[in-house]
Amino acid sequence: MRKLILFFLISFFALRMAIADEGMWLPLFLNQYNIEDMQKKGFKLTAEDIYSVNKASMKDAVPIFGRGCTSVLVSEEGLLLTNHHCGYGQIQQHSSVENDYLTNGFWAMNKEQELPNPGLSVTFLVRMEEITEQLMENITPNMSETERNAIIKQKSNELMQKAVEGTHYSAKIKPFFLGNRYFLFVEEVFTDVRLVGAPPSAIGKFGGDTDNWMWPRHTGDFSVFRIYASKDNKPAAYSQNNVPYKPKKHLKISMKGVKEGDFTMVLGYPGTTQEYLPSMAVDLIEKIYNPHKIALRQKRIDIMTFEMDKNVAVRIQYAAKHAGASNAWKKWIGESRGLKRLNAVEKKKNLEAEFQKWAESTPELKAKYGTILEEYQKNYSELSKYQHVSNYIFEGIFSIEAISIARRIDVLTEFNENSTNEEISVQQKKLKEWSDDFFKDYYQLIDKQTFSSLIEMYSKNVDKKYQTATFEIIQNKYKGDFGKFTETVFEKSFLVSKTKFDQFVNQFSYKSVKKLKSDPIWQLFYEIKDLYLTQLDEKITNLQSEISILDRKYMQALMEMQPNKIFYPDANFTLRVSYGKVADYMPKNGVKYLPFTTIDGIIEKDNPEIYDYKVPEKLKQLYENKEYGKYGQNGEMNVCFAASNHTTGGNSGSPVIDAEGNLLGLNFDRNWEGTMSDIMYDPTQCRNITLDIRYALFIIDKFAGASHLINEMELVN
Ligand code: ARG
Ligand code: GLU
Repeated sequence: MRKLILFFLISFFALRMAIADEGMWLPLFLNQYNIEDMQKKGFKLTAEDIYSVNKASMKDAVPIFGRGCTSVLVSEEGLLLTNHHCGYGQIQQHSSVENDYLTNGFWAMNKEQELPNPGLSVTFLVRMEEITEQLMENITPNMSETERNAIIKQKSNELMQKAVEGTHYSAKIKPFFLGNRYFLFVEEVFTDVRLVGAPPSAIGKFGGDTDNWMWPRHTGDFSVFRIYASKDNKPAAYSQNNVPYKPKKHLKISMKGVKEGDFTMVLGYPGTTQEYLPSMAVDLIEKIYNPHKIALRQKRIDIMTFEMDKNVAVRIQYAAKHAGASNAWKKWIGESRGLKRLNAVEKKKNLEAEFQKWAESTPELKAKYGTILEEYQKNYSELSKYQHVSNYIFEGIFSIEAISIARRIDVLTEFNENSTNEEISVQQKKLKEWSDDFFKDYYQLIDKQTFSSLIEMYSKNVDKKYQTATFEIIQNKYKGDFGKFTETVFEKSFLVSKTKFDQFVNQFSYKSVKKLKSDPIWQLFYEIKDLYLTQLDEKITNLQSEISILDRKYMQALMEMQPNKIFYPDANFTLRVSYGKVADYMPKNGVKYLPFTTIDGIIEKDNPEIYDYKVPEKLKQLYENKEYGKYGQNGEMNVCFAASNHTTGGNSGSPVIDAEGNLLGLNFDRNWEGTMSDIMYDPTQCRNITLDIRYALFIIDKFAGASHLINEMELVN
């Protein structure tokens, strides 16, 4: 009887696991852990179709885009799709008031018109391999962390070198399961990646920051690039002689669309999650860290928005900065709300109570794991004091542009009478280039207001003992008037004007160091940097390193306590598979959201008065005439869909793939109610948001007239 009950319990949990779509799985272990479940949910292919080192597989079609996004190959000629917000920096770089590709879109009508992007790269995974055993060979349980790390580092270097010997590949090693296991990744990096097309922001960023992180959504968030290679199909620096890259694999495009309940899979590079945090850490994020960071960023964003609304040139200059800043700001808000609604701290506490009971159940366990939670508590409460100040430094003071200028020019303070002219002129040249690039998008009025507001917030929220000399001057000499102080400082400083900055750099000799050091903005930068280095850095590093040892133990212990549970590792910007289904959800009591949107919703939101909701005339015409071509279905033009795949930042641009392995769309966001999934996933609330590929093709073809690109792709029904 007991056995029977146990059996039922286990199958109940197995069932629960099967309906929850949580998890970002390692492609290497699909056969072992996931494939059966995936197939049960509708997937028709095999694990080798997703990841294989013996044959072309999906992973060969899904490279990292730039430094923080994913992308997908869709033609034999290296045609690459990613999100509009992932290509945003590049689109902006090519834009000016005369040629405003952000506003009007850009379409290369032939390969000659495709635009190179210095600094942009695309990275393929060649293979991955677990190397835990090799790394742990000489590790003993009683070793100090420093020793342990040194051994791991040395062995890692050896293994990486060996892995890529005689090839043009590069290698990296990353810890998984909070340092309990390690994997090696061999990669191939292409650097000639050209911009092929982008819709106007009124499509690619439709709804702007207002709709960002929200469902229902109507954003055509895609852009098109092409990878170029040398004649022998190898990575090569940009050259006119390069040719379109011939990928090992590209995805075919599904024209079928999706129904509620359909299987979906996301293949991509999720950046960071923290699913195994203890309750006190979650509590700090929810109630202290997020709220303060939100307030600081809100200030910065409000100032930008106000000035951008007044001036078109400023709007272009600050477009990417604004979007970037508001993205994390809004995510933090959603995350704190979601954690609260989910009772995440309580849930973690319950798990911890269970854990503690288990950890005290035998003397061996008690010796190994009995004090983990207590030590967590001690370390986190200590850390929170310093972390709060550190947040004010990085999210406050160091996010001020003037301070970032000081931070950049600070290299010059290292010169002295022994420095050679060559050494100096190397730096002068670099700073000149930096200044051209930086000041192109600098508007002093925004910076001045930000400076004044953020240092004031710092002074109000940070313990007196962390208020440096500048803050005393403001109190004593300026009677606490931050505005007046800022006026004077911006008047006096030579850092916040391109002319003065360049002049100083041009005429620089080691004797000018004195002048730099008397600049009030440099001084504030220096004080805060010094404060951080002398009073915070070491404490924070040590506490974090204590915590990371606990993390490793706690993870190990949890796995030991729940031997039948299949754990997935936290995201760490390595290739993962998430699978789930197209699914609706109830954002609040009495309200249900459908998992699809159509172009009707775009027309509903149309408002010429509001920048984010101005629908382009051409799109309205296409809508009026129902000119959807083969991309529409039953007279409807689908735009986005929601599904239950567990994703995070970095998954932007990831292909969303159907049961047959065809491309359904591009992942680009999550719903606001679900952003706490980085810390705790809720199957009833967490949805990833995907651009329906048919809408992207409709825009490319019918809106932009770039049908030559469609001809390169393989559409399947
Ligand atoms: N929230 C999405 C992500 O995390 C999209 C961000 C870009 N869009 C925007 N309106 N800022 O990256
Ligand atoms: N927009 C995010 C990105 O750039 C993806 C959304 C998310 O965080 O899930 O990666």
